[in-house]
Amino acid sequence: MAMALSAAAALLLCAGCSQRPRRVADGPVYLDRQAPTEERIEDALSRMTLEEKVAVLHAQSKFSSAGVPRLGIPELWCTDGPHGIRPEVLWDEWEQAGWTSDSCVAFPALTCLAASWDPDLALLYGQSIGEEALYRGKDVLLGPGVNIYRTPLGGRNFEYMGEDPYLASRIVVPYVQGVQQNGVAACVKHFALNNEETHRHTIDVDLDDRALYEIYLPAFKAAVQEGGAWSIMSSYNLYRGTHVGNNERLLDDILRGEWGFDGAVISDWGGVHETEGTVLHGVDLEFGTWTDGLTMGATNAYDNYYLANPYLEGLRSGKYTVEGLDAKVRRVLRLIFRTAMRENKGFGALNSEAHYAAARRIGAEGIVLLKNENGLLPLRKGSRVLVVGENAVKMMTVGGGSSSLKVQHEISPLAGIAEQAQVTYARGYVGDVGGEYNGVSSGQDLSESRNPAQLTAEAVSLAREADYVVFVGGLNKSDHQDCEGADRLDLALPYGQDALISALAAANPRTVVALVSGNAVSMPWVDKVPAILQCWFLGSEAGHSIADVLFGDVNPSGKLPFTFPRALCDSPAHQAGMTFPNEGPTTYEEGIFVGYRWYDKQGIEPLFALGHGLSYTSFEYGPARLDRTSMTEGGRIRVSVPVTNTGSVPGKETVQLYIADRESSLPRPVKELKDFAKVSLEPAQTKTVTFEISADKLRFYDPAAGAWTAEPGEFELLIGSASDDIRTRAAFTLK
Ligand code: BGC
Repeated sequence: MAMALSAAAALLLCAGCSQRPRRVADGPVYLDRQAPTEERIEDALSRMTLEEKVAVLHAQSKFSSAGVPRLGIPELWCTDGPHGIRPEVLWDEWEQAGWTSDSCVAFPALTCLAASWDPDLALLYGQSIGEEALYRGKDVLLGPGVNIYRTPLGGRNFEYMGEDPYLASRIVVPYVQGVQQNGVAACVKHFALNNEETHRHTIDVDLDDRALYEIYLPAFKAAVQEGGAWSIMSSYNLYRGTHVGNNERLLDDILRGEWGFDGAVISDWGGVHETEGTVLHGVDLEFGTWTDGLTMGATNAYDNYYLANPYLEGLRSGKYTVEGLDAKVRRVLRLIFRTAMRENKGFGALNSEAHYAAARRIGAEGIVLLKNENGLLPLRKGSRVLVVGENAVKMMTVGGGSSSLKVQHEISPLAGIAEQAQVTYARGYVGDVGGEYNGVSSGQDLSESRNPAQLTAEAVSLAREADYVVFVGGLNKSDHQDCEGADRLDLALPYGQDALISALAAANPRTVVALVSGNAVSMPWVDKVPAILQCWFLGSEAGHSIADVLFGDVNPSGKLPFTFPRALCDSPAHQAGMTFPNEGPTTYEEGIFVGYRWYDKQGIEPLFALGHGLSYTSFEYGPARLDRTSMTEGGRIRVSVPVTNTGSVPGKETVQLYIADRESSLPRPVKELKDFAKVSLEPAQTKTVTFEISADKLRFYDPAAGAWTAEPGEFELLIGSASDDIRTRAAFTLK
């Protein structure tokens, strides 16, 4: 429609008489649905009263914000995120509402998705969970999370994508795109520096700009600039003395300024603490504020939010400008137009076969085979398998904080294995017998009256008679395990599992350890057991995914998205002197040397390195070949490496490219992940993987210049199967 719409015009075109505009003061904003969104936003804005504008900037219930009823602008409905669609809660409470139509598919935790090293699966994940959100009538999915894995004690690491900014970036982009293809916004969280839980509201993070730009921000930037994320969630913590919810540098300067983010910043629930800073630099949408106990007293506690009446009063008194208000409202309307008011949205789907298949596949592709001595795995189908451990039966989709779900079904590891073998079960240890979160109950009775010695004795005696023992343990979603709001207390497995595993391995040499966790754990028994699988929290299809790998229907191809240290004191932040947990000011002393960057620099051998993951077949790498040996700043170099499946079964290998800067004015990591490719190979098949290197892959952040720079000199390309398993190298010069 060629007509230009001025704000004052507020015109509607009547159907069939497009040349004769009709003036309508109120009424639905169905003004020319084909008009560009920005015009429709200006039109809507021009019709809104001051009160209506303020009303769209804060919550009206636990998970929704008001629209403009008079103008037909709908409410905005948010949901957690990020592994499935959270059950409906009461209007003003965290407690579930008790609906019977809100059970969902739980997809594997984001650590598992990252461990797949497969952007195509991340797209499938985003599309699938986006469809579930759409079917449930949600506009904003509160996820994915991309905070960098800084310490293995971090309670929420299981909801994030590991320690490497490049890997997290490559996974988050398709996830966001997949979700948003449904007209549902991804809300990428928690921006930024949410690396601890215990004192998440008071921890005040300081770090050097290199670490900020090189390690902690890239995945957010990729989500915004490449993924086109429509919303971002500010984190609870402070950065350099100011809460992130009103942090000028992070929100105004970097996110909106440097990156050009035009979407809405949504506060984490209860993450707004003042009106002035929030009005001037902060979030656009305020959720979850605890209004000093007013929740129970005021007629509408939401009117007491920092971006509600206090803002309105400041506007009326002239303290705040309407221009500033309009900027926020515009961003919120943009989010509404992109989602709730999106034309031609589909209807989504809930609990579909396709979603279960996606969950199962992502789960199996993310499982990491850490160790497999003498080819113990895969197990023989139909054999006598003793399954030991609480995590073989405990529902893991309930608990852990806001990502807790109400699932339509959850296949336990025991049930999955029982479909493939003759199974006996022994509890082995007692962890947490609870199974309730905000009114959703697992319905499981895990009570146990026997003591640890009796449980061990039973498991060990049954182990002697089994063909194989599969121990399924690890962490769970209880406090101080993998859980929001509380970090872990140490690296060790809880509940006496270490001793039990050693006893089982002594009783049966064919003992497999399958760890269900979202974090690294120490493994004092690592040399005693022949096979170890890192299984993550796998959601609805957990047992099927695990059995698919255990019995060889799926050849494992997951690779670790973070390092497993031998001891906590080896891991970067801890070795750099961090006290834990932190409250108040804390400085990230390890700087850019996070994860494998630290182990490389210190020459510390980890238990399992970033990128490690075995297969039931073997892969041989040929020599890396460059198409030239020097390049200029604007040029490109290609490096190719042939990879051959030298085993007897089909398999997938993630070929990893690390780059080392041999000469630089500032310290750089020994090597950094800069690309990867997952290839599928039949036995004896060879594929050549080619990576293209531009100067972007060579740059570091120069804090003095406030810019990314690539310095001339020699660079080395290290290509391999893991960060500690480099198979071939090549060098070139940047001129
Ligand atoms: C969490 C967010 C979550 C929100 C809403 C907060 O406590 O930190 O990740 O999206 O609650 O449930």
